[in-house]
Amino acid sequence: MPPSRLLCCALSLVFACAAAPPPDVERRVDQLLARMTLDEKIGQMSQGASLGSPVSERSRQEIRAGRWGSFLSTIAFADRAEAQRIALHESRLSIPLLFGRDVIHGYRTMLPIPLAQAATWDPALVEQGARVAAREASADAIHWTFAPMLDIARDPRWGRISEGAGEDPYLAAALAAAQVRGYQGPSLDAPGSIAACGKHFVGYGAVEAGREYNSAWIPEILLRSVYLPPFHAASDAGAATFMSAFSAINGVPATGNEFLLRGVLRGEWQFDGFVVSDYGSVDELVTHGYAADQADAALKGVRAGVDMEMASNAYHAHLKALVAAGKLDEKLIDDAVRRVKFRLGLFDKPVPAAPDPTVFLAPESLAVARRLAAESAVLLKNDGALPLAGSIGKLAVIGPLADSPLDQMGCWTVDGRAGDVRTFLASLRERLGADRVIYAPGLKTPRDTARDGFPAALEAARAADAVLLFLGEDANMDGEARSRAFLDLPGAQAALAKEIAAAGKPVIEVIVAGRPLTFQETAAQARAVLYVWNPGTMGGPALADLLFGDAVPSGRLPVTFPRTVGQVPIYYAHLNTGRPPGPNDLGIPLGTPVDPHGFLSKYIDVDYTPQYPFGFGLSYSTFEYSAPRLSASSVPLGGRLDVAADVTNTGRYEADEVVELYIRGLVASVARPVRELKGFARVRLKPGEKRGVSFTLSTADLASYDAHMHLVTEPGAFQVWIAPDSDRGIPGEFRVTQ
Ligand code: BGC
Repeated sequence: MPPSRLLCCALSLVFACAAAPPPDVERRVDQLLARMTLDEKIGQMSQGASLGSPVSERSRQEIRAGRWGSFLSTIAFADRAEAQRIALHESRLSIPLLFGRDVIHGYRTMLPIPLAQAATWDPALVEQGARVAAREASADAIHWTFAPMLDIARDPRWGRISEGAGEDPYLAAALAAAQVRGYQGPSLDAPGSIAACGKHFVGYGAVEAGREYNSAWIPEILLRSVYLPPFHAASDAGAATFMSAFSAINGVPATGNEFLLRGVLRGEWQFDGFVVSDYGSVDELVTHGYAADQADAALKGVRAGVDMEMASNAYHAHLKALVAAGKLDEKLIDDAVRRVKFRLGLFDKPVPAAPDPTVFLAPESLAVARRLAAESAVLLKNDGALPLAGSIGKLAVIGPLADSPLDQMGCWTVDGRAGDVRTFLASLRERLGADRVIYAPGLKTPRDTARDGFPAALEAARAADAVLLFLGEDANMDGEARSRAFLDLPGAQAALAKEIAAAGKPVIEVIVAGRPLTFQETAAQARAVLYVWNPGTMGGPALADLLFGDAVPSGRLPVTFPRTVGQVPIYYAHLNTGRPPGPNDLGIPLGTPVDPHGFLSKYIDVDYTPQYPFGFGLSYSTFEYSAPRLSASSVPLGGRLDVAADVTNTGRYEADEVVELYIRGLVASVARPVRELKGFARVRLKPGEKRGVSFTLSTADLASYDAHMHLVTEPGAFQVWIAPDSDRGIPGEFRVTQ
């Protein structure tokens, strides 16, 4: 019997992470803990940044000595297998290593970026996507992903907006739970499961001015109403781990934040997994001005509840001395070690001899990736130019992103390979035949400013019946440390679009980007605009399906698109203010300061409304919504209300429609947003088909935080909408009574 099996039989540590460990397991964990030296315990609380590839002599010695519990960024399966062999056969206690990795939106099969996945509004499909990623990663001996990212982001300047689910806590919470289920499967020791990590706890998405690693100031009521719910949902779904954020929230760095980690996460939510710091964020407690030196940082990290330190060396260097000096209670260390590994089913996972190659890029995984890419594309404009007729003569494919596998995959494609990507260009050629596609990139990259490719692009446009213009950002412009102060198309792309428009051919813009961009001028020149984000390995075939009507666009924006960066932060669930502008207070031409038309909460130089509201997305078909029907006009506290509307497909295409449920609490002791998402459903309707779509709301679903941080439903008047986006719909009214 191999040692890993032996150990497993000895310890029987086989259970899912979220369930309270059986007493038997607790006893065995106690037995192992009792045998561990303080150094070995600290080792289990430490994650090494790199093993070396092949595994370095230094790593070998350190693993033998029990110095590391986990590694990040290991490169090859062979390295992980070798390191695990050393841990199991050559270290004193044979405790297996835990291999973590940034499996953010797929492993080999790259799925659309998380923000794109959020645009599907399809938790079941997003769950399948996470499952695909988990299967592939686990086949390669990865145990743990640093995903999902659950930071609510209302500022597209922040580059990491691409890694999360956008601006809304309800949608983000639904997707958080779906991803945790997908990664972790039925239990962590099940084949193809990996541990999830809800990150970055918490408030990182609110960094001031969208500037990376900046500080966030979030009143507790906003924290509880908006920023915490996705994390809470992940915890309730059984997420095995959480990662503390780099940023400071209300002056206290998240990595040293006892209120958040011990108070909210462990205390209020009863989270019993473990918390890992972000990369070097324990050390950074000093830089923040929150810890005097590295020893103080280590002390504050452990006290706050960071069980494992990622990449930096503070725990190694200081915890032992802190215990010896009586400054740190060893019980806190035991508690951290107990959480770290024993609950991951790790002891029962035999080390695979070699990865099964059939798991990677399996046809069923590619099918999930293709569906995700198709469902995440958001049709922002269409005057009938789409779908294209299959009989179209020649198509000009222009733009720097038409044939760029890395950009198509997007940020965090650690294990994705360019050669696996089916690019937009390749797929269109496949579909139409190479002779019907005229390709002229116009610019070498999205940031290129040289215009020497313009003449060939113009010639291609002139020679074609329609133009597909691929614009956007390269994959390096979003993700970590990629904040922007401008949201427009970089390089000479706007100029390219203008030049192409002059050819007079129908232009369809395909925008490839990891964040909302501002691009009205080019959109105005186009007959259709499809926002495909970074759609991943299968983005090409999915786009071809959409362009030619084999699939109908059904994605909805998970985040508000501003008209201009000066409106940021802009989000649908804002408060009404004392002077809200009305629908006629719009229409101010961009860049032309005019009379303010009254002293209202708006701008004098741009419409105050967004370019595209949250929840927005067109279809090739059209849908009509009836007014909502309510099961009662008043509902007592503790009661339930059914809300239904008829949704009719009034167009020519069978299509999915995402039906959104919003409420507004008209009066409360703390004023409430003008709308709050409370439900959604994806329904498929044939042309002419009418379906009643209904939702049930309990009065608890209507609750909000009062000034004392109690989640309460205050009696009073409410509005409710069943609508295609956050801006449209016919309101219904009801009252909640005592
Ligand atoms: C990021 C995390 C990531 C970690 C490990 C950090 O810089 O903030 O999101 O999981 O690195 O790569």
